[in-house]
Amino acid sequence: MAVNQQTSASAEAEPYADDPILELRDLKTYFFLERGVVKAVDGVNVALGRKKTLGVVGESGCGKSVTFRSVMRLVQSPPGKIVAGEILLNRKNDATVDIVKLDPRGRQLRDIRGAEIAMIFQEPMTSLNPLHPVGRQISESVLLHQNLSRRAALERAEEMLHKVHIADPNRRLNEYPHQLSGGMRQRVMIALALSCNPSILIADEPTTALDVTVQAQILDLMRELQDDFDSSIVLITHNLGVVSQMADHVAVMYLGRVVEYAPVYDIFHNPKHPYTVGLLNSVPVLGRKDDKMLVPIKGMVPSPMEEIRGCAFADRCPQTMEICREQTPIFKESESGHAVACWLHE
Ligand SMILES: Nc1ncnc2c1ncn2[C@@H]1O[C@H](COP(=O)(O)OP(=O)(O)O)[C@@H](O)[C@H]1O
Ligand SMILES: [Mg+2]
Repeated sequence: MAVNQQTSASAEAEPYADDPILELRDLKTYFFLERGVVKAVDGVNVALGRKKTLGVVGESGCGKSVTFRSVMRLVQSPPGKIVAGEILLNRKNDATVDIVKLDPRGRQLRDIRGAEIAMIFQEPMTSLNPLHPVGRQISESVLLHQNLSRRAALERAEEMLHKVHIADPNRRLNEYPHQLSGGMRQRVMIALALSCNPSILIADEPTTALDVTVQAQILDLMRELQDDFDSSIVLITHNLGVVSQMADHVAVMYLGRVVEYAPVYDIFHNPKHPYTVGLLNSVPVLGRKDDKMLVPIKGMVPSPMEEIRGCAFADRCPQTMEICREQTPIFKESESGHAVACWLHE
């Protein structure tokens, strides 16, 4: 295998399929536009283990963001709609809830958002309000979900700024987002996301806009906070180097589906789907020792409005067979803990 680097999990990583905190089953989220239906998420199956990090990779437009915005029920509707599937949140001492079934304006969903599942974005200003001091934003989120006094909530905000290593947190409480650097805004967004101690943190390209040094600091911070808060993390990124350092498991997405899912070690050292192999050969990986030539995957991702017969990757795949153009491969386990949707592995 071309990729030669340290990975955070061992090859014998514990399978956790018997106790995931979050499970997506055959999830489909479509956008109904005048010019047609965009099948942005078209049958996603994936699980997130307790206190684990799931890396989600795939080229731009593959449905990574829409999948996890669906989990938060943040897909704009209309034109977006979850048309099928389940999003199961398996609480520790409580019954499982299917997030798909919840009333979008109901109490239950509001309680889950923020207090149980929080999301951070590439652009911190997606979460931060430019008009309010950051301390007030964090304390108000705390007040929304926890029964605390205003004063206690502000103390919590200060404690959170301290936890994300913002110097002089007491002074920063009164500052506005525009007074902070990009890296610091990212830290504030993380503080805001974690202020109610959610069990799941979904991070959508959280470091993409940052320079390499700040990026490394933010990733360190996320790892540290994961230990502190016992959180399970979904880390969406196109950066395979980041995935190799952070993830326990990896889901590779292609055109609205997960096409390969495995422990991180196996994704890098024993990839099974030709798309995964293509991705590994086409992008620079931080920390990769060899100076291997990068080989782009030929062609482009088809439009999610197209009806595709057979495997959606067939036109770009170096190993296409006859059956690939006729039947859609089924996503299933080929080895214990390693699932793939590819006729080569039937
Ligand atoms: N609001 C929207 N309306 C119509 N199409 C959308 C909308 N949001 C996303 N899409 C489409 O859904 C597909 C998946 O997008 P996205 O999840 O953002 O991809 P990724 O995060 O993997 O880059 C893309 O084809 C995108 O154009
Ligand atoms: Mg995205």
